[in-house]
Amino acid sequence: MQLVTIAESALSTTLQSPERLRDICASLEAGDIVFFPSTPIHIGSEDLKFLLGHQQVGGAYHKNIAYRPQQDRITGFSDQKSDTSRRLRGIMKSYSQAVIEFLRQFLGPYQAQWKVDYASYRPEEEQGRDLTLRKRNDLLHTDAFPTRPTHGDRILRFFNNINPEKTRNWITTETFGGLLEKMRAGKINGSAVPLPSSMQMPALKRTLSGIGLGALAPSLKRSPYDEFMMRFHNYLKENSEFQSNCPKQHWEFPPGSSWMVYTDMVSHAVLSGQFALEQTLIVSRHAMVAPEKSPYGVLSRLAATRE
Ligand SMILES: [Fe+2]
Repeated sequence: MQLVTIAESALSTTLQSPERLRDICASLEAGDIVFFPSTPIHIGSEDLKFLLGHQQVGGAYHKNIAYRPQQDRITGFSDQKSDTSRRLRGIMKSYSQAVIEFLRQFLGPYQAQWKVDYASYRPEEEQGRDLTLRKRNDLLHTDAFPTRPTHGDRILRFFNNINPEKTRNWITTETFGGLLEKMRAGKINGSAVPLPSSMQMPALKRTLSGIGLGALAPSLKRSPYDEFMMRFHNYLKENSEFQSNCPKQHWEFPPGSSWMVYTDMVSHAVLSGQFALEQTLIVSRHAMVAPEKSPYGVLSRLAATRE
């Protein structure tokens, strides 16, 4: 896994080269992290000041403050009706729009074949957070959404470290394909997650989803792909031997930087850092420049050989 660094001075020439942009998409899909030492996203100084002054996430249920662009609404902030909440919503809306506008150009090869998912504000210090094991950010994992199945589409996340002083510190280990191989070869302790025998949704689930009952329980909406990815996420987090002994790369993202990565493929953990913004895109698996490398591609191949 490598860092693909895009310096501020190289950004405009990069944006003008379709070949270079395609290479960048291919690097992301191979599990690299695209890193902007100086963020391409403008965040006004008054907005920054406001964000840094509001650290409180509302209640134990929410990990972060989330902004839902489709509904123009924030969750995870306790005081929904106040001026503070309205201001926060406005800032998150501008941030979300700025990131999407930038990625429309920067990820031009995808031709915006994506769903704009939530943006988030992460105001709490990550080191020593009191979260349940499956919600912990400091344990290595690949992302899967329990209530928002992707059916093989990709989870791409764009981050900003808005902390004026402190780096945001990540570790990563191998990407999805490598970890899956190790699990299958019995090189990771713990009981392996069964591979999907087919990528097709079972008929009963399809029917229930089709008549609107899928919304009753997230697991009814999950495809075999989502089911596997969710269990794989838990398997990695619950495996303390793997967490302690796997090879690790350390990354320090400085104040004012941005980075993006396919978090469904790159196993990652946040060790420390406070004050980050993030926007998630669910990129169509059909838009990939190297679909065979995606978790869906890898699992499909394995499912096909088992039939
Ligand atoms: Fe994650």
